[in-house]
Amino acid sequence: MTGWALLGHAGDLADHGQWITGWIGNVPVVVRNFGGTLRGFRNVCSHRFALMLTEPAGKGPLRCPYHAWVYDADGVPKAIPFNDSDFHLDDAGRRALALPPVGVAVAGGLVFVHLDAAADPALPAGWVDQGTGTLPDGSVISADGTIRHRSTRIRVGAC
Ligand code: FES
Repeated sequence: MTGWALLGHAGDLADHGQWITGWIGNVPVVVRNFGGTLRGFRNVCSHRFALMLTEPAGKGPLRCPYHAWVYDADGVPKAIPFNDSDFHLDDAGRRALALPPVGVAVAGGLVFVHLDAAADPALPAGWVDQGTGTLPDGSVISADGTIRHRSTRIRVGAC
């Protein structure tokens, strides 16, 4: 799947540390609030390629559940248990293992993601400004901001 996809509500990312997850096609993604800035990444650990955050929403560090690597706002693993004894990763080594970023755009209180981190965020704003329209994933947005989902692969907010 290419293009912008609806991921969730900006209200679920209001506070530092809050995150939401979802999929762009078959690619898992996560968007997290890092001190007021929303950053998005592929939700796959650089260590052993595990799916990291498995709930639709939550609050806390971007931490892999398997060996507890923690990623920073640039997607770089900043905390690696046993790094000194096992991995010996310096700053350059850590940066080389950064999570691939994804594009993030917020429009009309909705959060959109794009596999191309450099994608133009003005596009989702245009859809929302239309008041009523059909999003690329088939979901329909109404003038009052409600969304009727066509795809079951896109989850919005916490259950
Ligand atoms: S698989 Fe993620 S820290 Fe090991």
